[in-house]
Amino acid sequence: MCGIVGYIGVSQAAPILLDGLSKLEYRGYDSAGLAVYDGDKIQLQKATGRLKVLSELTHDGATMPGVAGIGHTRWATHGAPSNSNAHPHFNREETIAVVHNGIIENYLKLKKYLEGKGYQFTSDTDTEVVAHLLDYYYKGDPIEAITRMMHRVEGSYALGILFQAHPGLLYAVRKDSPLIVGRSKDGNLIASDVPAVLKYTRNVYFIENEEISILSGEDICFYNVDGEEIQKESTAIDWDMNAAEKGGYEHFMLKEMYEQPQTVRDTLNPRIKEYNVDIEELGMTDEEIRSIQKIHIVACGSAYHAGFTAKYVFEGMARIPVDVDLASEFRYRNPILQEHDLVIIISQSGETADSLAALREAKNRGVQTLGIVNVVGSSIAREADRVMYTWAGPEIAVATTKAYSAQLIAEYLLAIKFAQVRGELTKEETTSYLKDLHKLPEQIEMLLSNKEKIQHFANRYISAKDVFFVGRGIDYAISMEGSLKLKEISYIHSEAYAAGELKHGTISLIEEGTLVAAVLTQEALYKKTISNIVELTSRGAFVLAVTNTGNTEIEKAADYVIYIPQTNRWFTNSLAIIPLQLFSYYVSLGKGCDVDKPRNLAKSVTVE
Ligand code: F6R
Repeated sequence: MCGIVGYIGVSQAAPILLDGLSKLEYRGYDSAGLAVYDGDKIQLQKATGRLKVLSELTHDGATMPGVAGIGHTRWATHGAPSNSNAHPHFNREETIAVVHNGIIENYLKLKKYLEGKGYQFTSDTDTEVVAHLLDYYYKGDPIEAITRMMHRVEGSYALGILFQAHPGLLYAVRKDSPLIVGRSKDGNLIASDVPAVLKYTRNVYFIENEEISILSGEDICFYNVDGEEIQKESTAIDWDMNAAEKGGYEHFMLKEMYEQPQTVRDTLNPRIKEYNVDIEELGMTDEEIRSIQKIHIVACGSAYHAGFTAKYVFEGMARIPVDVDLASEFRYRNPILQEHDLVIIISQSGETADSLAALREAKNRGVQTLGIVNVVGSSIAREADRVMYTWAGPEIAVATTKAYSAQLIAEYLLAIKFAQVRGELTKEETTSYLKDLHKLPEQIEMLLSNKEKIQHFANRYISAKDVFFVGRGIDYAISMEGSLKLKEISYIHSEAYAAGELKHGTISLIEEGTLVAAVLTQEALYKKTISNIVELTSRGAFVLAVTNTGNTEIEKAADYVIYIPQTNRWFTNSLAIIPLQLFSYYVSLGKGCDVDKPRNLAKSVTVE
């Protein structure tokens, strides 16, 4: 995720900003920039690549005089990594500078509106609309301009703002993207994350949604969205740097699991307009969607598992035949690809060697390709004919959680759009699906809040030797991901099986006490899977069932039940995976494994 730092006080701002940004480097970024008020005007410096480049460019900040400034490390979302897309962004007179974390969902609409008013855009970012909107509303009172801007923008934002006409002040605003204010003896700071300010202060204020803060060198004031002053209590931070990087969570994996509700919102909300899926970004005409004969989904690891879910969703909802392939297999098996086929490559990093080679193979054969990718400007994103970004932000833990959840959302949106265009969904069905999608973030939050119960259960299995995950249909796809999560971070052997396949061999591995996680989220298949559970328990297995609220029938067959909230049958993976992620996490923790960096694994697999 992007990083924000701001400072106003008695010391030179630029070195403090660079130092603060360096403490946020672990979060990942592709470019960086500073804006400092030099006593006359706002000076701007930006650089693509490492922060070191910006430090060298500014001689560690020395070439940027001034005691008030804002800095940013950017993780590209709208627009590739480049100097022009790097923050801060200016209004046209270069008198208002803005740094932004988050996503402005209605930026295209606002951009059109502002262009109509004569504003010219110099970047592809969503952020630039904020700078121009502030300019448009600024009539001498920054608070008025900020509150009017807040009423117009939709989405998430944490903003640091400088107004040249108010040189002794620094402005901060947030909605659904974190921002803190720190008070130190030599000045005051803003930051998107605690580590950036720890060297200067442990006394911070957490800005809440739709609150504004005005900082001078000596004072800090807070306002609500109506511009009324509010009082806030500061918090003393007792985290060390290590804990601060993880936002107080013990591991990045846990932090990223907790970011899933926001990831789902960010990937979903900008693409839903008035109860319709809007994926204009793909530039795909209805005619092209109607002409698709077959979809080939190609990916590795968890991304492959997300693709496996998509097979059920695309086939069930849009009635398009789908093949799912491991990229390492697809690229060498001389796949049969026809003119009207669509190849979808799913990848968090966008750099996985096998997935990239599979994409190139498909392109060489002249078929249309679409990448579902998290890293903007990555190789797969650049080379695919079309790209749909998952806005999960940087993922640091090796085991993916939030990027996987975002991939599922991208797939649901594509499936709904394809189904609608091809006449497989009525208006009412689409509306009801979109309502269900909107409920997912809160439902995920609810499941995450149940972590103690899962931790308690997981602690009983830290010395398990083998664990099996079973399910039918989409539940089989969920089982595959649940099983991978467990084995990769806890080193416990585990396998996923289609529940109906057990008796063709695997059931001979079941011994007294073997743990089997059974997933039952597809109502039409409950009875069938319950029969399989009975076969397992009668051979000594201990069965943990993950099922929908209301399926109480399961309690007669399974030993332990975790209920997930009701959603549409196509979207259950987004909920059922949460307890399975938590289970793996707590088993790994209980065993004392290196949760974030499991042995032998790399985050991005750029070799074959
Ligand atoms: C598992 C995991 C891996 C990746 C796989 C593909 O937790 O993260 O299995 O899913 O290596 O990586 P990307 O999505 O970057 O292509």
